[in-house]
Amino acid sequence: MKIIAINGSPRKNWNTDSLLRKALEGAASQNAETEIVHLYDLKYKGCISCFACKIKDGSYTCALQDDLTSILEKLKSADAIIFGSPIYFMNVTSGTSSFLERFFFPYIKYSKETPSLFPKKLPTGFIYTMNITKEQLDESKINLNPYEMFIEMVLGEKPMLLYSYNTYQYSDYNKYESSMFDEKEKSKYRAEQFPLDCQTAFEMGKSLAKNAEMNKVNL
Ligand SMILES: Cc1cc2nc3c(=O)[nH]c(=O)nc-3n(C[C@H](O)[C@H](O)[C@H](O)COP(=O)(O)O)c2cc1C
Repeated sequence: MKIIAINGSPRKNWNTDSLLRKALEGAASQNAETEIVHLYDLKYKGCISCFACKIKDGSYTCALQDDLTSILEKLKSADAIIFGSPIYFMNVTSGTSSFLERFFFPYIKYSKETPSLFPKKLPTGFIYTMNITKEQLDESKINLNPYEMFIEMVLGEKPMLLYSYNTYQYSDYNKYESSMFDEKEKSKYRAEQFPLDCQTAFEMGKSLAKNAEMNKVNL
């Protein structure tokens, strides 16, 4: 059983990457083989609207050849996927967005009979990290990720979700202009909440591995 995490943060070992690694630890605790893909290590574009993937009786695959090509191929054999992205301007990062365009569009057949060409149902999780608090997000009523509905449409199941709020953006708040933040409150929140978020991520990975195992048994 293979579980792949997709890190949509440009930073390694920071909030998103740390939570994804915890989720993979949870998956590994159920004997899953795990791998993390760092999108910002790769050179690739988002969809260029060439419609090669929509040619009748064609291969229904993405014609672009770049660093994403082998990753998209690998995802076909994953038993679960855990996506992770920081929130930039109240959306997922551009790297995440470009990746999701390339991943999903070839599987969306413009036919009522076969809405998704993805070969199986795939359990997924989505981990979001952001500077704002839960209260601020709830108040804004903004939908952070319109891709969630396409995860269900293409991969057949709603993703498990984890929101990590009020994250630390840098390790030294004295070094950068940060006067709009209460650093003491932020550091207290991080000390108390981030370990709990890590635990939730671990449990998410564990559940996804269990669901993936059940899907394999039911095949
Ligand atoms: C360009 C940029 C835009 C950002 N926009 C937002 C935002 O709109 N809302 C928010 O809550 N946090 C925003 N943030 C903060 C990040 O989402 C937050 O620090 C996140 O946890 C960073 O993830 P990382 O540690 O994995 O890199 C932004 C950060 C950057 C660099």
